[in-house]
Amino acid sequence: MPARSEPVTATRSSGPAARIIPLGSPIGAEVTGIDAGAPISDLAMQAIWKALDDHSVIVLRDQHIFPAAQVALARRLGDMRTSFYNRYSVPGQPELSVVSNIKEGGESIGIADAGMLWHTDASYLKTPDMYTLLYGIEIPQRDGKAIGDTLFSSTGAAYESLPAEIKDRIAGARAIHSFIDHLEKKRQSNNLKRAPITEAQKAELPDVDHPVVRTHPRTGRRCLFVTEGHTSTIAGLPAQESAELLRLLWDQIRKPEFHYRHSWRKGDLVIWDNCAVQHLAVFDYGDTPRRLHRAGVMGTVPY
Ligand SMILES: [Fe+2]
Repeated sequence: MPARSEPVTATRSSGPAARIIPLGSPIGAEVTGIDAGAPISDLAMQAIWKALDDHSVIVLRDQHIFPAAQVALARRLGDMRTSFYNRYSVPGQPELSVVSNIKEGGESIGIADAGMLWHTDASYLKTPDMYTLLYGIEIPQRDGKAIGDTLFSSTGAAYESLPAEIKDRIAGARAIHSFIDHLEKKRQSNNLKRAPITEAQKAELPDVDHPVVRTHPRTGRRCLFVTEGHTSTIAGLPAQESAELLRLLWDQIRKPEFHYRHSWRKGDLVIWDNCAVQHLAVFDYGDTPRRLHRAGVMGTVPY
């Protein structure tokens, strides 16, 4: 149950006031009083920005959002990224990707293996995604309970609770993020389910390096920015030392005290801040149909 709620004042003409209700974890809040399927008022946007800055992951329940409205809301948060996996985009809406295990005519209608390892979206690019908006359309259940949860971990809290000696070791360090290495990790664990990328796409995805600890561009908070999914090595360290340090930092992200676990309902719109959190999909639903629409908003070069 929510611990408290933070009203965001509204004028009479703007409809019911949005409320921000923390979900009891270091991250995560429900925002009520906003219809994300309709044009968003400036006041509602103010509530969304505040909730994102303060809670990193926000949940809007019981929404009815057509693809164009999801794109319109994403654009209020920044410039959108159009995925290079355009074969899985929503028909007529190239800015939205389908995340799904559903097959039609033997072909997957969406990305079926998204989020199997802890990660932050598009960290393998020079300008990783700042925000992701994921809308639940078809949510699998077992025995009346939703399955296919998404876990989020606070990268700020994870960094802050590292021992001083580790903070000293990673101060100023940079790490390599690699999409090709990510696909290889998935292939080795027998979890690669998406269509292969082409050589031309590979050539457009060179490895990039980012700071191991980045500063949040809006809140100024220091955030751990190496992920199990996409970070291959820490630059300049011998291979074994790099692997050991990465394992320690990935274990830090896995600690439950930094987590919010989202149990999906049809009509949920979840928006998260990819600097402030990492996320992980739980694959416990097998072939039970699951379908969500995803939008990514570009960020700046991490520093
Ligand atoms: Fe993701």
